[in-house]
Amino acid sequence: MRKVLFALGGASLLLGISAIAVKAQAVEPTTPPDPPEFAAQSEPVFVGISDIFEYRALDQYAEPQWVTENFVDTGRLPPVAERLPAEPLVYKSANMPDGIGEYGDVMRHVIGGRPEGWNYFAGQSQGWGGIDIGLFECLTRTGPLFMVRAEELEPLPNLARSWEWSEDGHELTMHLIEGAKWSDGHPFTSDDVMFFWQDHVLDPNVSPLNGATPESFGDGTTLEALDDYTIKWTFTESFPTQYLYQMAYGTFCPGPAHILRPEHPSYSDNTYNEYVNAFPAEFMSFPVMGAWVPVEYRPDDIIVMRRNPYYWKVDEDGNQLPYLDELYYRLSSWADRDVQAVAGSGDFSNLEQPESYVEALQRAASDDAPARLQFGARTIGYSLQMNMSGNGWGEPDERAQAVRELNRELDFRKAVSMAIDRQRLGDALVRGPFTAIYPGGLFAGTTYYDKESTAYYGYDLEAANQLLDGLGLIDTDGDGIRNFPEGVAGGQNVEITVLANTDYNTDRSLADGINAMMEEIGIRAIVNLQQGNTRDSLRQAGQFDWSVWREGSEMVSVVQGTVGLAPTGPRVHDFHRANEAGELDLLPFEQELVDIVNAFIATPDLDERAELMRDYQRVFTENVYSVGLTQYPGALIINKRFKNIPEGTPIFLYNWAEDSVIRERLFVPVDDQPGHELHPQTLPGEPGGSGPIS
Ligand code: GLA
Ligand code: CA
Repeated sequence: MRKVLFALGGASLLLGISAIAVKAQAVEPTTPPDPPEFAAQSEPVFVGISDIFEYRALDQYAEPQWVTENFVDTGRLPPVAERLPAEPLVYKSANMPDGIGEYGDVMRHVIGGRPEGWNYFAGQSQGWGGIDIGLFECLTRTGPLFMVRAEELEPLPNLARSWEWSEDGHELTMHLIEGAKWSDGHPFTSDDVMFFWQDHVLDPNVSPLNGATPESFGDGTTLEALDDYTIKWTFTESFPTQYLYQMAYGTFCPGPAHILRPEHPSYSDNTYNEYVNAFPAEFMSFPVMGAWVPVEYRPDDIIVMRRNPYYWKVDEDGNQLPYLDELYYRLSSWADRDVQAVAGSGDFSNLEQPESYVEALQRAASDDAPARLQFGARTIGYSLQMNMSGNGWGEPDERAQAVRELNRELDFRKAVSMAIDRQRLGDALVRGPFTAIYPGGLFAGTTYYDKESTAYYGYDLEAANQLLDGLGLIDTDGDGIRNFPEGVAGGQNVEITVLANTDYNTDRSLADGINAMMEEIGIRAIVNLQQGNTRDSLRQAGQFDWSVWREGSEMVSVVQGTVGLAPTGPRVHDFHRANEAGELDLLPFEQELVDIVNAFIATPDLDERAELMRDYQRVFTENVYSVGLTQYPGALIINKRFKNIPEGTPIFLYNWAEDSVIRERLFVPVDDQPGHELHPQTLPGEPGGSGPIS
């Protein structure tokens, strides 16, 4: 029934177009203007992977004295050497800017997100801001790659401590860290990995938070456990090393099978919905492999995390990490994160909302400023994404379906791009050399970007209006808004909803800007502001016409999240996914993008890869696949008392700074510790049962 309706809608819209078609003058793109000069304030010290850490046994191990005295000596915990794996991950002192650290203190975070619960593996958000990054460890790790020499660029080992490829490149055997334990002392094994794969990635009823699906690891890929500590991947492609990036945050971070399995529908009477919600935010001491464990939660107030006594990483002197005994997260707003970090009542922020740049810079400039603020490259950018599914993803009604048909018209996307005055949009966020015009696609200034391959449909209202006339969108009732052609959505006004995240000032101002600029071309863009978690589920479900979106790391790094650069699978892309029947109605240029991305994944040849990404950028921008808006640099703000912050840490590259700074190695010299810990000398308790225990 639905299909028939859609087919009709599409056909009649096309009919409308050809009947009224006033052929607009061919609109030629230009190359984008060069972004204003903006130099990053510090550069990384580049090293090889083996300079950062290795896995090996040390002669002896140590931990905070209070842990030994209050927990080991009282028989409540085994000695630290028995809690660590036989060969822990050992960070090398030479790579630690301030060397071996001292225990204690807390990193006080402030966030605008809210936790849904701990079942990250079934799609629950913990509120972002690096909470999940601190809790869940993944097979590989990529945040710190910003400091790895280009010739050696490959994801860092993590839970997978080493791997080797078969001769033909179709099999990848991974060796997991042996003898590591979850934060409740339960052994971590390949069973945890297989449970994540079988019952989350492969189970179509479960969507892990960052959207891991079977295609995230390539069509036809299989995974099996050879023994407790060995897993084997089999790929249809040969040497698809790209998937090692997919095994990092957030697509391959397994959960504790011993806690999750009893609640999973395949092993219990629970429904999938009950499984998702089986570990609400009130569930304390959820077992993790990360350095800190949640021990306290108060809605709209705080999440506190204490050190994981089973953490499996140490420094070269054998001190068990993390150095910081506690992390906490004030549940406030993202703008407040900037304010508090600059003022010194918070310790960390990714300064990423340009509206607060001028004030933050002024306050950080004084000598007695509590925090260090350092700008990086232009890696934060926003796009306007249009829902490209014409065959039912998100179950659109008649109006929404008519919008989808428009979204799928190149002239329409060009018109929208040409109606946007990006200079004005950027200046409205912040004046100065920060924002740059962003045509869409790969960010200017990044490794794979090529200006000559970038088509820019810049601000030109007249041309935009002509294109819309040519599409048969005429204001038939004279109220200033163009109407759909007769027979399409009842010939009603073209009203398009713009889904935006209300938690960020920047998202809101961009959405408002779009609303105002669309009015100029007779399109009513209705801003639909939703809180982050709701916004995310509407996007996941395909229930949006347009969406204002802060780009993911694939547009910056290309190698992280590569599969998401195009709809390479039914559920991997931001704005074009399959309908319920699993059908993906790709336009010819989208198929071209898919082929380019797959070819990129399949070749290790660097020249070929660069060439492919030039093609990608050309096809993407010539077709205005999404409408780029603005691109600008962010700054990392960290309180000055913290040591071991790596030089030139970007707020966003392969991952967010919360991963890249390697928080488990950060420390505060004992003499500088201000006594901010909320639960000093306590450790996580029983899963689900108690909060911190002393
Ligand atoms: C949010 C914030 C980012 C970063 C990430 C980490 O998206 O806006 O700055 O902290 O969370 O997940
Ligand atoms: Ca009208």
